[in-house]
Amino acid sequence: MAPVQFQSKLYFSLSLLLFLPSTITSQSNRNVPLGSSLTTESNSSWLSPSGEFAFGFQQITPDGGYLLAIVFDEIPERTVAWSANRNNLVPRGSKLELTTSGHLVLTDPSGRHVWSPNSDPASHAAMLDTGNFVLLAANDSSTLWESFQEPADTLLPTQTLEQGSQLIAKYSKSNHSQGRFKFILRRDRNLFLHVTHYPEMRAGISYWPPTTAVGGQYYTGDRVVFNQSLSLDLILNNGTVVFPVFNSNGGSSSRDFYHRVTLDYDGVLRYYEYPKSNGQSSNKVWSSVYFKPPNICTAVTGDMGSGACGYNSYCELVNDQYPKCSCPPGYILKDSSDESKGCIPDFAPQDCRLQEGNSDAFELVDMPAVDWPLYDYESFEFYTEDMCRQSCLSDCQCALVVYGKFCWKKKSPLSNGRVGDDKTEKSLVKVRRSNSTTSSPHVEKKRKGLVVIIIIGSVLLASSAFVILLSAMFLSMKKKKKNQDSAASRAFLDRQNDLLSRNLRSFAYCELELATERFKEVLGSGASGIVYRGVLPNNNQRRLVAVKRLDNTVSEIKDQEFETEVRVIGGTNHKNLVKLVGFCNEGLHRVLVYEFMSNGSLAGLLFGEEGQSRPNWYTRMEIACAVARGLVYLHEECSTQIIHCDIKPQNVLLDESMMAKISDFGIAKLLKANQTRTMTKIRGTRGYVAPEWFRNMSITTKVDVYSFGVLLLELVCCRSKLETEAANEVEVFLANWAYECYSDGQLRKLVENDDEAMNDVENVERFVKIALWCIQDDPCLRPAMKKVVHMLEGSVHVPTPLDPESFISNI
Ligand SMILES: *[C@@H]1O[C@H](CO)[C@@H](O)[C@H](O)[C@H]1NC(C)=O
Ligand SMILES: *[C@@H]1O[C@H](CO)[C@@H](O)[C@H](O)[C@H]1NC(C)=O
Ligand SMILES: *[C@@H]1O[C@H](CO)[C@@H](O)[C@H](O)[C@H]1NC(C)=O
Ligand SMILES: *[C@@H]1O[C@H](CO)[C@@H](O)[C@H](O)[C@H]1NC(C)=O
Ligand SMILES: *[C@@H]1O[C@H](CO)[C@@H](O)[C@H](O)[C@H]1NC(C)=O
Ligand SMILES: *[C@@H]1O[C@H](CO)[C@@H](O)[C@H](O)[C@H]1NC(C)=O
Repeated sequence: MAPVQFQSKLYFSLSLLLFLPSTITSQSNRNVPLGSSLTTESNSSWLSPSGEFAFGFQQITPDGGYLLAIVFDEIPERTVAWSANRNNLVPRGSKLELTTSGHLVLTDPSGRHVWSPNSDPASHAAMLDTGNFVLLAANDSSTLWESFQEPADTLLPTQTLEQGSQLIAKYSKSNHSQGRFKFILRRDRNLFLHVTHYPEMRAGISYWPPTTAVGGQYYTGDRVVFNQSLSLDLILNNGTVVFPVFNSNGGSSSRDFYHRVTLDYDGVLRYYEYPKSNGQSSNKVWSSVYFKPPNICTAVTGDMGSGACGYNSYCELVNDQYPKCSCPPGYILKDSSDESKGCIPDFAPQDCRLQEGNSDAFELVDMPAVDWPLYDYESFEFYTEDMCRQSCLSDCQCALVVYGKFCWKKKSPLSNGRVGDDKTEKSLVKVRRSNSTTSSPHVEKKRKGLVVIIIIGSVLLASSAFVILLSAMFLSMKKKKKNQDSAASRAFLDRQNDLLSRNLRSFAYCELELATERFKEVLGSGASGIVYRGVLPNNNQRRLVAVKRLDNTVSEIKDQEFETEVRVIGGTNHKNLVKLVGFCNEGLHRVLVYEFMSNGSLAGLLFGEEGQSRPNWYTRMEIACAVARGLVYLHEECSTQIIHCDIKPQNVLLDESMMAKISDFGIAKLLKANQTRTMTKIRGTRGYVAPEWFRNMSITTKVDVYSFGVLLLELVCCRSKLETEAANEVEVFLANWAYECYSDGQLRKLVENDDEAMNDVENVERFVKIALWCIQDDPCLRPAMKKVVHMLEGSVHVPTPLDPESFISNI
């Protein structure tokens, strides 16, 4: 079919375009007569007069899947601008016919109708130079049907998108099926980008425009026009532009460039241009000049769906506009040929029925700056990274944690993953250890047994007494373990491993004299002795330690007892307890050597010198939680229950990262070794001691709860338990005052001059209420430390506290 000259007037006036779209065709004098046909075998197609566009079959898949399409015919890629059967490729042997009765029909080799436009009988058809294919009426050549009214994923210059029309992205780069995204001018006149999914064509979440425009409203308009000056605008019927989607700003001309706007398979609406063949540049490509939304990775975010990438994968913007989807470490593409299907674990998944295996069969792998910002099933505000890790490792539901300002736990499948802007955040993905087989309880048990044997074996070399102790510990732990959860068994393993690595050392007294330069620098002093700074030579490194020389009273404890207790205490291992490095038991000398805590004691921080800055409210909240967790461990989680008996700010130390740790927790045990549970001699420090000390009642863990309550009030208020009222030089008890403020509804008084706390009165109130429960006169009314932790974390409601007053006035 020889091309006939087309009196080319490429673009029509906007008014024609807007009001009389059907008159476009009147410009054409190049027709496809009735009875014409195209087949997949013939290379023929119906060309536009300029030859720039062709209507015909394009082979898409190697095995012979054909698309009936309009293509840019003069560029090598033959880019598809429109297609008829994108969800339904036809095989070789298919045929397109403009029947003698005036119908355009696509049939497959069996003669089945695959596609046919909904139109009255036409007298002829035409492929126009705009890229529009039209069916025309006989009498006045008015347009009966045009490809422009049923766009696929692309708009061409002069094309309009009417209300209710949409572009639907391809499924993938090479698959022309309807995919996951649509660009639509809705019937409510709103213009949106939506997530969708063929064949379910309902609009899913919208991801552009990102926020409401003027006056809290989206821009509304009557149609979207790709106008003559190559801008894409949302306009009103009278031509007023209400919202420019792409404003070409008089850029490249249509004489020198092809233009198109395509909703790409990645969900990005792009404005492309391609230099026309004028002989010069040979290496030509479509370049994306403008695009929306600015960041597809973060734009596609909603309360359902996987986000810009598939489930379990995460999105990263490359070259400023292209989303790259990647699988987390340990994960692989579910379908290697289809990224959008997301990722799956490349390991046997967690099995919640095998509780024991979880904690050591899995590990967490760091993914810096990767974030999954939605759908946490649990979150913790005051967790350290370590706690966050443990929390996920010990939870068979947990697939990943994001650690940043919070610890956020996530289940599978993960959605909305992206490389975040916040470099302080990272994701930790849980993967099965590479050489761990799918665990069965049987296998796990064997492994644990082995660990214990190794421990016992190595210890045998050192001391046989130690062996007996360890065996006893193991047995008692084993007994405990039976009715405890996996957290306990994890703690058990931690402890075992720790004993192996920690090398609780027995020092000679002279060694410690050397380390402390004859007990030169005092770090602090407590009820049971004085603490000195020391430096231990440790291979090539020097290690700072705190060396505590116990008073003579303590040394009355028999050697055997001292060592046994030290070993037990040395066996405790919790991040909120100061670690015991070693001890010395020589003659009358009883010395304990601890890890050095560079930030000193909480007392120093809270009530230190005037002008010294106090820890901020959030740090204080964190410290409270840390101390509480340390106490839970002493009370409930170590092999033998330990009551501290002297919880106070002086005994809470802070390491270089401001992690709070309880110190001196073993001293109580050492002192108590020879004593009955009712004590005549009051221990502890005035203001922090529970009333039962004075009442000949038995001493339980609740005495620590009481002291913790006082400490908590001090943390909230940054004041000491005995605050001297400057005005009248009267000592008032902080607890007393706090309750007054609380019951008078004047909590703000407690945290005056503390902006952060003032702005967080809700948490201040919660903490004060918890503290008031802890200092109840009746030990039975005080919550156990475990419950205190839950209340501090906010996972348990804090009821209105009773008045602890009766007790306070008795002191
Ligand atoms: C169709 O055209 C291609 C290149 O455009 C050519 O390689 C092929 O031989 C042609 N086939 C037929 C049947 O004309
Ligand atoms: C042209 O024909 C169509 C039906 O094919 C009819 O609806 C229309 O009125 C006709 N127009 C003129 C100008 O005759
Ligand atoms: C394109 O993707 C759709 C959706 O996954 C699939 O059903 C179809 O078979 C694919 N087509 C081709 C040609 O691969
Ligand atoms: C096309 O759109 C631009 C930008 O919105 C506008 O300035 C221009 O007037 C429009 N062109 C025509 C011919 O309407
Ligand atoms: C177009 O219509 C809008 C609202 O109907 C109106 O505000 C605007 O002034 C009109 N513009 C013109 C050029 O008539
Ligand atoms: C498992 O792998 C780790 C490190 O890759 C290695 O240290 C350990 O010995 C391995 N364990 C077994 C049982 O192969």
